[in-house]
Amino acid sequence: MKVNWMAVVVGVGIAAVGSIWAGRLLGTGSGGGTILRPDDARLVARGEEVYRKNCASCHGADLRGQPGWQTTAGKAPPHDATGHTWHHPDPMLVMVTRQGTVRRGGAMPGFAGNLSDEDIVAVLSYIKSRWPDEIRATHDRINARYSAGAG
Ligand code: HEC
Repeated sequence: MKVNWMAVVVGVGIAAVGSIWAGRLLGTGSGGGTILRPDDARLVARGEEVYRKNCASCHGADLRGQPGWQTTAGKAPPHDATGHTWHHPDPMLVMVTRQGTVRRGGAMPGFAGNLSDEDIVAVLSYIKSRWPDEIRATHDRINARYSAGAG
């Protein structure tokens, strides 16, 4: 069975939790869709290290995911421009990385116990730093829409 777990995650109120998260990470105390810092070279370098150790085994050293990911449940999707990671705003990416998807019938372990908040922001910032400019710009707009409450 192919579980649309992202819809499930959204269904359990990720928007609310996500904006608290964003507020905390940004130190603003209010909501906000932008958490990642793909232009912060030091953070991105740290994120690359985190990625190699924790994510590459499934999502691929080159971010290309596992063959058959579109059709086979449990295969890790790519994090490059060919996947759909960039379709989701920052708070959702942070949440998925923290919680994983196992509890929702998916195959990804949660990293909340192993990675600090800053490591999670670092690894996702690294992933974003690898996207082409136009995908990054689109993702910025997705974050802005999400901050404005339009999902
Ligand atoms: C054991 C394999 C595995 C590891 C290790 C893993 N993932 Fe995943 N990840 C998956 C799978 C499989 C999915 C797709 C959802 C599902 O089927 O459970 C996924 C989905 C995701 C998504 C959602 C992508 C989308 O397009 O919606 C994000 C973000 C993500 N992973 C980030 C990470 C990060 C960051 C790490 C390392 C810290 C990581 N993953 C490590 C297997 C893994």
